[in-house]
Amino acid sequence: MSDQSFKIIPEENSHVQAVEDLLDLAFGPGRFAKTAYRLREGVEALPELSFAGFLGGDLIATIRFWPVKIGTDTPAVMLGPLAVDPASRGKGWGLDMIAAGLDQAKIQGHQLVVLVGDETYYARQKFKKAPPGQIIMPGPCDPQRLLYCELEAGVFGSVEGMISRVK
Ligand SMILES: CC(C)(COP(=O)(O)OP(=O)(O)OC[C@H]1O[C@@H](n2cnc3c(N)ncnc32)[C@H](O)[C@@H]1OP(=O)(O)O)[C@@H](O)C(=O)NCCC(=O)NCCS
Repeated sequence: MSDQSFKIIPEENSHVQAVEDLLDLAFGPGRFAKTAYRLREGVEALPELSFAGFLGGDLIATIRFWPVKIGTDTPAVMLGPLAVDPASRGKGWGLDMIAAGLDQAKIQGHQLVVLVGDETYYARQKFKKAPPGQIIMPGPCDPQRLLYCELEAGVFGSVEGMISRVK
């Protein structure tokens, strides 16, 4: 009998099509129009911070992070996209994916994570709403959804400016 426990493993090249299919299902084809995608154009997700969640042989969850900078020179990583297959939601696996990503980001020396998402969800993994205007997305973005998580206590206090791509 195959193992049906949920497992999180580093994303591999062979997972890419299943990840794209899951993202199409979760966000729809309009996902590329989101402002977050402006920060991803021509930039690869950080391979060491890309994870796949498996149930048996099926890829049912994905999380990726992208390198960004804030203002002139503050390095950070942007979480997203995160998606869990609709049939497997509500079991805590999305939060497990976030926890796995944050743990690994900290191990690798990253100090600050930002994202655009629902505060009520991400607050469960220590994300907070950024004070209005302190950090800015390079396009339309509901400021209520612009969140940050410090992996090093206090680092956000001195950060300000536009979030931009790092190539
Ligand atoms: C958001 C998503 C990743 C959550 O995955 P999940 O595995 O179902 O989440 P978990 O099981 O870890 O957490 C479930 C809990 O979070 C809550 N929750 C889920 N999505 C939420 C949201 N958008 N806002 C607030 N709370 C949310 C659920 O109500 C549930 O609460 P409960 O524990 O009190 O019952 C999944 O619904 C998804 O893929 N959605 C479509 C893509 C998406 O919106 N991604 C996030 C982009 S910001």
